[in-house]
Amino acid sequence: MGISVIWSVIAILVRWIFSKRRGAISYDSSDQTALYIRMLGACVIFKQLFSRDVRVRSQVGFEPERRGSHPYLGVDFRTLHSRAESAGSIPARRIRRLFSFQRHLLSSRFLRGAPHLNPLHILDEDYCGQAKCMLEKVGSWNFDIFLFDRLTNGNSLVTLTLYLLSHYGLIELFQLDMVKVHRFLVLVQEDYHNHNPYHNSVHAADVTQAMHCYLKEPKLAKSLTSCDILLGLLAAVTHDLDHPGVNQPFLIKTNHYLAALYRNTSVLENHHWRSAVGLLRETELFSHLPAEDSLNMERQLGSLILATDISRQNEYLSKFRTHLDQEDLCLGNASHRHFVLQMALKCADICNPCRPWELSKQWSEKVTEEFFHQGDIEKKHKLEVSPLCDSETNSIADVQIGFMTYVVEPLFAEWARFSDTRLSQTMLGHLCLNKASWNAMQPEASGSSEELESEQEASSRALPQGSPQS
Ligand SMILES: *[C@@H]1O[C@H](CO)[C@@H](O)[C@H](O)[C@H]1NC(C)=O
Ligand SMILES: *[C@@H]1O[C@H](CO)[C@@H](O)[C@H](O)[C@H]1NC(C)=O
Ligand SMILES: [Zn+2]
Repeated sequence: MGISVIWSVIAILVRWIFSKRRGAISYDSSDQTALYIRMLGACVIFKQLFSRDVRVRSQVGFEPERRGSHPYLGVDFRTLHSRAESAGSIPARRIRRLFSFQRHLLSSRFLRGAPHLNPLHILDEDYCGQAKCMLEKVGSWNFDIFLFDRLTNGNSLVTLTLYLLSHYGLIELFQLDMVKVHRFLVLVQEDYHNHNPYHNSVHAADVTQAMHCYLKEPKLAKSLTSCDILLGLLAAVTHDLDHPGVNQPFLIKTNHYLAALYRNTSVLENHHWRSAVGLLRETELFSHLPAEDSLNMERQLGSLILATDISRQNEYLSKFRTHLDQEDLCLGNASHRHFVLQMALKCADICNPCRPWELSKQWSEKVTEEFFHQGDIEKKHKLEVSPLCDSETNSIADVQIGFMTYVVEPLFAEWARFSDTRLSQTMLGHLCLNKASWNAMQPEASGSSEELESEQEASSRALPQGSPQS
């Protein structure tokens, strides 16, 4: 790729960043430069944000310590509060931006890894070429999201979502403004906590990739509308937004204000949804649509995200089972399609054990690390240690085996009844093999094997209520 091509890409980009045209730009995925534009776009926006942030911070005399006002959590209350009022005053909005920028500085691998901000870095042909290559197989169940995240400098969520939105032609169809789309996705990616071992933007990218695989399944592909697809993708992208890395019981027992706000019910999921709505409104992504339509989108987004509350799994599963037994799912009916999307998102959210072992194992290690971290905080503050969170009495293997047996297998068995395809068989195959691998890794019970078994059973039973995984 010659220098002149690079400069013309930059010229296009600059024109596009500063133009206020709405929905006028669409990208053909076969266009050689399209991927570079997509990647560069995020990069240039980073740079703009960065310089603005530095400017604003020096004006205000900003103190570096602004996070962690809660003894246990890295949640910034002021940020959350100001986000809750969507039409906040200008100073409040500015402060909210300020925190978001600061968070970006602290957490972005892109900025940490590239002290001399030069947008051309991202044009490194090797990485770009490899990431682009990977995107050609984005519908593959073996897609390695960890590798993709490294190749995109930690921007897997932004890059993948931009690719999928244009792949499905949604930018054009919904007349979305590319600048707003970028800004929305960059903010979403930043509002995931990169220091969470599991609930971070790579998990969101992974769920989005899985969702894409399900949307392509014949039954869904031939019946879903563009609106369904847009909502399905957006829900996957935002479903764990601003996750604090601890579960709902923890928030309740530490009297977190979110628990009070949402009355101890789907506390995290409500927060992910309202955070997503906050960013949608702030970036005015749907502001060109009739108010009624964008409100309806927000509502449906909420209904999808709330379905990922693992403690309500049985409710959704028995409804799914009843439909399958009675063979009465009619995908011409919008409310049935919405239900199927809820089930697809639930599957995407907990599909880790259905991935090939090399990927699945990494997810298992990460989620257990997050559980044990919560357990350590609980011990430190003399709180009761949550089920599965005690590193002294649990192992990765027994946490995983319980999770697979009681949560994942029942869900994917029904999904395979609904969508009896090669993908479903592949997923069930991996699930079975991965479970056998964890079983083989179980330490030989040195003491009483009965004791081990009953303990394992107890922790598994506790899963649906106490599981931080979702
Ligand atoms: C939430 O649960 C806590 C602890 O069980 C309880 O003290 C509190 O009153 C509950 N809040 C609401 C709104 O139900
Ligand atoms: C769609 O399904 C819902 C729920 O099963 C039902 O109440 C509604 O009447 C159906 N709508 C149509 C147009 O069939
Ligand atoms: Zn999740």
